[in-house]
Amino acid sequence: MIAVVLTALLLASASQIVTADDNNHCPSGWTFSTNTSFCYIQSPQYLTYAEADPFCQSIGGSQVFVFTARELTWLTDFTKASFALPWLATTRNVTSGLWYNSDKTTPTSSWWTTGEPSANGDCATFKGTGQSGLKATPCYSIQPALCRQMPALCPTTTNYGGTSTRSGTIQSPGYPVQYYNNLNCLYSITSPVNTYITLLFSPYLLEDYFDYIDVFDGPNSSYPYLGTTDDWWYTRDSFESSSNSVSFIFHTDSIITDKGWLLTWNAKSNTPPISQSGQNGSFTSPNYPNNYDPYTEQLYYITAPIGFQVNVTIPDFNTEMNYDVLEVYNSSYVSSYNLVANLTGSAVAPWNWLSPSRYVTMRFKSDPIVQKKGFYVVWTIQ
Ligand SMILES: *[C@@H]1O[C@H](CO)[C@@H](O)[C@H](O)[C@H]1NC(C)=O
Ligand SMILES: *[C@@H]1O[C@H](CO)[C@@H](O)[C@H](O)[C@H]1NC(C)=O
Ligand SMILES: *[C@@H]1O[C@H](CO)[C@@H](O)[C@H](O)[C@H]1NC(C)=O
Ligand SMILES: *[C@@H]1O[C@H](CO)[C@@H](O)[C@H](O)[C@H]1NC(C)=O
Ligand SMILES: *[C@@H]1O[C@H](CO)[C@@H](O)[C@H](O)[C@H]1NC(C)=O
Ligand SMILES: *[C@@H]1O[C@H](CO)[C@@H](O)[C@H](O)[C@H]1NC(C)=O
Ligand SMILES: *[C@@H]1O[C@H](CO)[C@@H](O)[C@H](O)[C@H]1NC(C)=O
Repeated sequence: MIAVVLTALLLASASQIVTADDNNHCPSGWTFSTNTSFCYIQSPQYLTYAEADPFCQSIGGSQVFVFTARELTWLTDFTKASFALPWLATTRNVTSGLWYNSDKTTPTSSWWTTGEPSANGDCATFKGTGQSGLKATPCYSIQPALCRQMPALCPTTTNYGGTSTRSGTIQSPGYPVQYYNNLNCLYSITSPVNTYITLLFSPYLLEDYFDYIDVFDGPNSSYPYLGTTDDWWYTRDSFESSSNSVSFIFHTDSIITDKGWLLTWNAKSNTPPISQSGQNGSFTSPNYPNNYDPYTEQLYYITAPIGFQVNVTIPDFNTEMNYDVLEVYNSSYVSSYNLVANLTGSAVAPWNWLSPSRYVTMRFKSDPIVQKKGFYVVWTIQ
């Protein structure tokens, strides 16, 4: 019943904060906050300020400072039963008198509790009762440490492809309900040798600008950068690797999420294009007269001498109707503006066409489902 209500709430509120379940996302003893998507723990032992961050680091986290109003509310709830006020990673610069969080940001003035910051100390603790907020405390005082760390919400899969895997889908954590904040998840895909990989993120529903995916032309982020899905004003949803390995990092910031993304990837054959010129020539689909392979992508370029046109004849043609297509272009390159015909099925041959110029480009693409014999093309100039 609760689950039903929760799901209904989630579905009704895309682009809201994360409210998904917290099962096993944090190490034992830590508490997952559905409001901030971080794991928190308060130390049972009392420490000086100088000892607090090393303590947090020693258990895999770092010291908390208040980052958002939402976190302030959450910390109030989390620490309200505590007798002693825990440390925050917020200190006063004794030269300038200004307060800074450990990331050099300045704590929002309204987040101090009543009468604070006082001259009582140069380190901040958090008061979770009454008017909650930050409180100046002497750094030598002994207080509990308050630590946070990212939950383990990235997938544990290290490679989504394989030496004989030619396609697949991957979805963001929590898709299609909601992904989490504070993610930096690496995804890596490899495909068979002599293939390259195309990526299409669709649907792609992310917080604009702050949440995005960076794509790399190899197994990790030390390889060349292929681009990002979010460029402020437009979403780029497709990418192509140069070889049989690609990776990407899904970054999310600390607030606002959405439904996420679904990636479809395909490995395409990396066969070199076939280029012909002169007075005549012929070529076939790969393996002809045996069946072509799944995921074939073969380019053919014909160039006639200046002043001539190309007379193309296809005496034999058989492909899977609608899915395996030979595209014919009246230009020297692939461009949708110059697409003359999509040849597909078993009723194409005999086909004849005279190009308007000295150039003809053809591209054959096959899908993974049904393979056929393919085609034979002859051409002459006139
Ligand atoms: C968490 O967020 C919800 C929704 O904004 C709010 O109602 C609730 O009070 C918050 N809880 C805490 C502990 O911050
Ligand atoms: C403290 O502030 C002074 C004066 O603005 C500055 O020169 C110094 O670098 C600051 N110290 C630290 C540790 O940030
Ligand atoms: C990236 O992958 C290469 C080889 O696969 C490896 O040598 C390198 O250490 C990796 N770099 C990172 C940052 O993981
Ligand atoms: C094809 O071109 C060659 C010269 O490159 C020529 O010798 C031959 O006769 C031509 N064949 C046809 C059928 O036109
Ligand atoms: C192209 O060549 C074929 C013979 O190979 C011929 O039948 C046809 O008429 C030619 N097409 C044109 C437009 O000249
Ligand atoms: C090439 O094909 C396109 C699409 O059919 C057509 O719009 C264009 O006019 C053609 N170019 C020439 C030179 O015939
Ligand atoms: C070829 O197929 C594509 C994709 O289905 C379509 O967009 C295009 O209009 C077709 N072009 C021709 C000339 O049939």
